[in-house]
Amino acid sequence: MAKVGIFFGTDTGNTRKIAKQISKELGDIADKPVNINKATVDDLLAYDVLILGSPTYGDGELPGLTSGNQNESWEEFLPTLVGADFSAKTVALFGLGDQEGYPGNFVDALGFLYDAFSDCGANIVGLTSAEGYTFDRSTALVDDRFAGLVLDEDNQKDLTEGRLKAWLEDIAPSWA
Ligand SMILES: Cc1cc2nc3c(=O)[nH]c(=O)nc-3n(C[C@H](O)[C@H](O)[C@H](O)COP(=O)(O)O)c2cc1C
Repeated sequence: MAKVGIFFGTDTGNTRKIAKQISKELGDIADKPVNINKATVDDLLAYDVLILGSPTYGDGELPGLTSGNQNESWEEFLPTLVGADFSAKTVALFGLGDQEGYPGNFVDALGFLYDAFSDCGANIVGLTSAEGYTFDRSTALVDDRFAGLVLDEDNQKDLTEGRLKAWLEDIAPSWA
């Protein structure tokens, strides 16, 4: 089995597209990305290394039915995680958001994923600098760094490829 599992939430497809790009970059060590609304906690626990992605919806909410998405997503999945043991797992997170449209809640969902998987004991890798983004507030900040890779397909699409490649290099020791 591949070493790296990739799971994502999405409503309009951006996060799926990034998940696919990550899978392509990693090649054979990663399995095909899976929408989190088709996954169980045991599906995640089957991997030693996980890459998990989410957009932010509503005003700083997880994707899911409450924020008006078409399908269930991380909002419905995270409650099923309570009590699970991820202490032997390495987890890298990525979040998509819109810093111009939502400067007061920029990529907040990334913070929710960080908290949920930290509470389950996961070793979270791949925190990144907040330099190069303009926003007022984000719950995705851990001290002064983002809890994972932050991509803004609405305003900084041209920076995505470079940010993604640098981040993958940074977290590569996780599956070495
Ligand atoms: C109704 C709506 C609410 C949003 N709320 C936020 C938000 O609170 N914070 C943020 O950073 N981005 C927000 N966004 C931007 C999305 O997270 C961003 O467009 C993302 O790329 C969408 O990903 P997806 O195509 O995978 O669903 C919102 C977008 C929409 C349409």
